[in-house]
Amino acid sequence: MSFTVNLSPLPLRSPETTTGINKLPKPITSFTRKKPILSFAITNSTEQPQTTTPEIELQFIGPKVGSDGKYPVDRATAVSGEKLLRNIMKDYKLELYGTYGKLMNCGGGGSCGTCIVEVVEGKELLNERTNTELKYLKKKPESWRLACQTIVGNKENSGKVVIQRLPQQKK
Ligand code: FES
Repeated sequence: MSFTVNLSPLPLRSPETTTGINKLPKPITSFTRKKPILSFAITNSTEQPQTTTPEIELQFIGPKVGSDGKYPVDRATAVSGEKLLRNIMKDYKLELYGTYGKLMNCGGGGSCGTCIVEVVEGKELLNERTNTELKYLKKKPESWRLACQTIVGNKENSGKVVIQRLPQQKK
């Protein structure tokens, strides 16, 4: 902490010219107080190793062969256990519905049975089939799921899931 004392020079006047009273003017003083600058480093001796959020890597295979003779594959990633498959596909603008489903889907409410996908790989990274799926997919292959009922990941797992889009249209 330091102080600066500013003593301005006083005009030389005789006491009788100011007030007529035998009184000296007070000296003008000012103090400038500098703010102390504090700096210190914060160290954390119990630093934790950075944890990474588990992620699911997804691949979506298109239903029709492209001009190159291969099925198109779109890729996406999702935080484990955070979203439904339908919402991930919506986020990535991937076609989920066939002709009927485009017009008549229930918007993810589990009441139309049109959001069908096939899980080609990574079934163990998804939730179990729900009662809604058991109802709508009773006569369909076990690998088929309803995207609006399928949770991708369980918050702790990570890995790769491969999805066949529109399996009912696959050629
Ligand atoms: S969107 Fe209707 S059941 Fe999935």
